[in-house]
Amino acid sequence: MSKDLLKCSKLNKWYGNLHALKNVDLEINKGEVIGLIGDNGAGKSTLIKIICGVHGLDNGEIYFEGHKVNIKNPKMAMDLGIETIHQYNTMFQEMSIARNVFIGREPVKFGLSSLSILNEKKMNLESMKAIKDVGLDLRSPHIPVKELSGGERQGVAIARSMYFKSKMLILDEPTNHLSVKETLKVLEYVQSLKSIGIGSIFISHNLYHVHEIADRIVGMARGEKVCDMPKEDTTVNELIKLIG
Ligand SMILES: Nc1ncnc2c1ncn2[C@@H]1O[C@H](COP(=O)(O)OP(=O)(O)OP(=O)(O)O)[C@@H](O)[C@H]1O
Ligand SMILES: [Mg+2]
Repeated sequence: MSKDLLKCSKLNKWYGNLHALKNVDLEINKGEVIGLIGDNGAGKSTLIKIICGVHGLDNGEIYFEGHKVNIKNPKMAMDLGIETIHQYNTMFQEMSIARNVFIGREPVKFGLSSLSILNEKKMNLESMKAIKDVGLDLRSPHIPVKELSGGERQGVAIARSMYFKSKMLILDEPTNHLSVKETLKVLEYVQSLKSIGIGSIFISHNLYHVHEIADRIVGMARGEKVCDMPKEDTTVNELIKLIG
C-alpha cells in the first residue's frame, strides 16, 4: 500500500484570462501536515478549492489513495473523505450547530408517506457527542451558529470532519480572528490528526504557526509552486524572506 493520500499533477486553472494555477504538483502522505504558504493572491485557496470540488480544473490530474479521481463538486470530495474548512467560514449562520454538523449528509428516516424527514434526534445527540470529542463544551445542539465565537465555529467544523472520519482535512486560514487560546486549540487538533493517519493542508499567513505544525512546507507565488521542503530544512526567518 502506498503512503500517498493525495497526489496532484500539473494542475492548471484560469479565471478568464488570469492563469491562477500553473502546473502545480502536490503530494500528501497519510498523517502528514502540509503548511501551504504564499502572499495574497498566490493561488493557495484556488489550489485547495480544486481539491475540494468547489472549482473545476482546467487541466491536470488528481489521484486519491492511488486512484485517479475527477472531483466535480464538494459532495464528491466529502464522499472521498476530503473535508474542508474554508477561509471565509461557510457554515450556515442561521442554522443550528446540529444542522451544520450534518449539512449535506443528513440522516433520514422514512415516514409512512415515504417522504424523507431529517432524523433530528440522531443529529442532536451525535453532533453534541462529536463536539465533546474535540474538547468543546457547547450547551445545546440547537444554538444557531451565528451565536458562537470564531473559535467555537472552527471547533464545530473540526468536529464535523472528525465525526465523518475524514481522510484528509484542509484548513484555509483556520486561525484568523481567533484568540491565542482558541488558536492553540486549533493547532492541537491538527497535530492530533497526524496520529490517526489523517493528512492535512494548513494554510496560514502566520509563518510561526505553519512552521510549528507542518511536516512539509509548500510555498506558492503568482500561481506557481516555488518551494516544497521538509520543515527541518528551513526556518521561520527563511520563510519570511521567501514569502514576505
Ligand atoms: N472566483 C474567482 N474569480 C476570478 N479570479 C479569482 C477568483 N478567485 C481568486 N481569483 C484570483 O486568483 C488569484 C489567486 O487567488 P487565491 O484566492 O487562490 O489566492 P490566495 O493565495 O488564497 O490569497 P490569500 O492569501 O489572499 O487568501 C488572485 O489573483 C485572485 O484575484
Ligand atoms: Mg486564500
